[in-house]
Amino acid sequence: MVSIANRVSAAATRLLMVRPTHFEVVKYSINPWMDPESKPVNRDRAMEQWNKLKDTIEEVGGEVHVMESDKATDWPDIVFASNAAVVRGKKAYLASFLHPERRGEREIYKTWFEDNGFETCGRTDIAFEGAGDGLWCGKDYSRLFAGVGPRTDPRALEDIAKQLDDGSGFKVVGCKLIDPRFYHIDVAFCPLSDELALWFPGAFDPVTQHNMRNEGVELVPVTHEDAGFFSCNALVVSKNVIMNHTTTRVAKTIEKLGYKPIYIDMSEFVKSGGSTKCCTLQI
Ligand code: ARG
Repeated sequence: MVSIANRVSAAATRLLMVRPTHFEVVKYSINPWMDPESKPVNRDRAMEQWNKLKDTIEEVGGEVHVMESDKATDWPDIVFASNAAVVRGKKAYLASFLHPERRGEREIYKTWFEDNGFETCGRTDIAFEGAGDGLWCGKDYSRLFAGVGPRTDPRALEDIAKQLDDGSGFKVVGCKLIDPRFYHIDVAFCPLSDELALWFPGAFDPVTQHNMRNEGVELVPVTHEDAGFFSCNALVVSKNVIMNHTTTRVAKTIEKLGYKPIYIDMSEFVKSGGSTKCCTLQI
């Protein structure tokens, strides 16, 4: 029998992506990377980079499902599909966005999930930002590493554990993020397998660092400079690590661990505070 836990890991290559039809950094800034004045997005370039990302995922065997966003004229950040929900099996625990600038995305994602055979759940009164703040790792993907602080309220964790409980007994590990540049856990922690992950320890408070080291995952550190290239916001498809251009140091680390780095220029998405991983959601 295939266990629920295996279903989580086997789903690793089935991804949702949202076409960046109305993607921009013009009207607002909700993280330190966004600067509408001096760093506006070139949308044509963003579209090229997004297409390149999608093609690359498919070339290495990933399966991409695209959600169109033609009607999402007011929600430029909807391209960051990772923030839609945390998914376990066929259940999606939807985001409840902290900033009003993203709140309208929830209904659009909800419709997509329900039209595509997922059951949806999740509260709207407690902030929680989907897989951007919830990554499966730990033996047989039995842990949900959940970022809290900048975007997700710790009170969401208990409800997630309850709502996504499928009898397989996973544990939610709350991880406090303390650096405004690393405002989602997926920009500071990158599972390569269920027992191996890259991380930038400085993004987490000391107690969290201690706790994360004790969950049966080998944690391989990257530097502040590496993390600044969004090296932890990398997308892993089997043994490939699809990521924004980074330092040779990170490349060597990844190769030594038996993985192959594949670089994509994600400059336009970096201007909004994201890279390859947050343009995708494991479904
Ligand atoms: N501009 C978006 C925001 O601030 C970027 C989201 C990036 N997503 C992520 N999972 N790291 O919300």
